[in-house]
Amino acid sequence: MGVHILSTGSSVPNFSVENQQFEDIIETSDHWISTRTGIKKRHLATSSISLTKLAAEAATKALNQANINPEDLDLIILATSTPDDLFGSASQLQAEIGATKSTAFDITAACSGFIIALVTASQFIKSGSYNTILVVGADTMSRWIDWSDRTTCILFGDGAGAVVVGKSSVNSILGFKLCTDGRLNSHLQLMNSPLTSQKFGSTAVPKGKYDYIKMNGKEVYKFAVFQVPAVIKTCLNDLNLSIDEVDWFILHQANTRILEAIANRLSIPFSKMITNLENYGNTSAASIPLALDEAIKDNKIQPGQIVVLSGFGAGLTWGAIVLRWH
Ligand code: UT7
Repeated sequence: MGVHILSTGSSVPNFSVENQQFEDIIETSDHWISTRTGIKKRHLATSSISLTKLAAEAATKALNQANINPEDLDLIILATSTPDDLFGSASQLQAEIGATKSTAFDITAACSGFIIALVTASQFIKSGSYNTILVVGADTMSRWIDWSDRTTCILFGDGAGAVVVGKSSVNSILGFKLCTDGRLNSHLQLMNSPLTSQKFGSTAVPKGKYDYIKMNGKEVYKFAVFQVPAVIKTCLNDLNLSIDEVDWFILHQANTRILEAIANRLSIPFSKMITNLENYGNTSAASIPLALDEAIKDNKIQPGQIVVLSGFGAGLTWGAIVLRWH
């Protein structure tokens, strides 16, 4: 049973913020941000834009492109760590796009979310359980940023990216590997840190309240530069493919220096790395499908080419998928 990526779509909020605008609120500079991260601007969801709306926009574009009616979807998987509803926003997305016959659930895995969601979708198709699945990676990290913390606030942007996958005689997903190391969890967290306590009788029962994103940038940087090339190599070895046979690498867009270091470690030209960090910053679960959608629209990725997707981030989690584009 083949798993075919039928179409892609993406969406970002209209409101964008240039690096210079941070100079007014924190001690930073356009020069520091662009040379240390590669980011020039990011899009932020204002109060009228919900995570569900962004996800629905990306999803609708992907469905239209594949000429698929929302009612024909069997399953929706929404990868997000910033749902509008803590119980999950996939149901809201299902209602928003009118996919009345599909089941829907969320996957929470921050910047690795889209990779995990796409692998999950492919397993449902391979097992014959479902025929047509919408996979969306969407995050509104701006809702969880401490705007006075210069080590994180300049990095993130909001967005959504979607793919429709279907059962097919051609197979797009050749292989994958997913990894987790929970011992490194404290390097990147958005913790539930109850400030107020409620009482059940005389027993304190804390009231849930999530704090801000906290990251040990140096540790996450080192982890990404070491683990991502390793997981890509393992995936390719398992498929008897050499690194030179890969046409494009679409990695989580966290930092251009990370992408350069990974390209060096893999001994590949940087021109094979698809990057759009400059315009969007780190959009967490949206970054890979957003970059994939742009690369397809720009006619970079051609039928028959081999594409490696790789995500990494909170958990810490990381993983890679090898695609043959059809
Ligand atoms: O999506 C999840 C995955 N996330 C990532 O992959 C992020 C990985 N980490 C990174 O991308 C980088 O570590 C950062 C971009 C977060 C930081 O870059 P860095 O080169 O590792 O900087 P640093 O933390 O070593 O800081 C260097 C200096 C420090 O000053 P001192 O101690 O040398 O005086 C920081 O306080 O830069 C300072 N700094 C800033 N200066 C101006 C930190 N943030 C800023 C800032 N503007 N925004």
